Amino acid sequence: MDRKVRKAIIPAAGLGTRFLPATKALAKEMLPIVDTPTIQYIIEEAVASGIEEILIITNSNKHSMENHFDTSYELESRLAASGKHDQVKQIRDIANLANIYYIRQKEPKGLGHAVLCAKSFIGDEPFAVLLGDDVVVNKGGEPSLKQLISAFDKKSASVVGVQTVQKEEVFKYGIVAPSASHLPEGRLVKLTSMVEKPAVEEAPSQLAVLGRYILTPEIFELLETQETGAGGEIQLTDAIKRLMDMQAVYAYDFEGIRYDVGDKFGFIKATIDFALDREELKEKVEAYIKELAKEV
Ligand code: UTP
Repeated sequence: MDRKVRKAIIPAAGLGTRFLPATKALAKEMLPIVDTPTIQYIIEEAVASGIEEILIITNSNKHSMENHFDTSYELESRLAASGKHDQVKQIRDIANLANIYYIRQKEPKGLGHAVLCAKSFIGDEPFAVLLGDDVVVNKGGEPSLKQLISAFDKKSASVVGVQTVQKEEVFKYGIVAPSASHLPEGRLVKLTSMVEKPAVEEAPSQLAVLGRYILTPEIFELLETQETGAGGEIQLTDAIKRLMDMQAVYAYDFEGIRYDVGDKFGFIKATIDFALDREELKEKVEAYIKELAKEV
């Protein structure tokens, strides 16, 4: 088995029910934070982490994604004709970001089922999974996926990216059971178990899996036999829990601010913070927030 993480999967075939009606005809991964679709931030993170090939798992609603990462000759020539050369470069760069492939998940049977759709693309190598719901910013530091890849390089074992969430929020996430109450190797800890969306009183910790995984290919044989779990879906968490019976699985408490952009409030927070980080918008947005603050 090739032990280098070269490939990534981005499952983007969910129904996005928390964002209806926008997601009736548009993939939630195409919703823009300021002016850039969420999935572009995710792909930029994967590329900055050394990933060479990316498979996006889509459904029948996702043509806009394929078009976004393709060349648009008509748009380019119109922009060029009106002298907008910076914008020509901007949209051309998007098409050259990475080698991107697509496959359809024919039915939304859950994240575990979506990952299984990538089996033949991945073959016998370790790979990354990134979810568009979790956008992570680590200004001046390493991208969250790169931190996980470094942990994988140390252990040659699957690593899930975690951060601490509030106790009353554990029911929204996959929650891990660490083998020690502190993280003995800096931010890295071996796991004994994992549970998807536990009730507050049943959660083994407050460490939640937040949309970044490095998995060994043995996960596919487990996903093939995985029964439906929470929400009647085939859960990736359940298969990773079974993987722990075969080989070590670690959690890495990654550095960075994570935005839950699959949730409306998380999306609004990301929009404000990203706007405050843009030279051309910062002053206006700050002034507007100050104005609003007077009224609340
Ligand atoms: P979510 O649990 O956030 O589901 O999936 P969702 O349907 O996208 O969103 P809501 O909760 O209905 O608003 C987590 C990730 O797994 C993908 C989603 O696209 C998302 O990135 N997913 C989920 C699939 O690709 N296929 C599925 O069958 C389910």
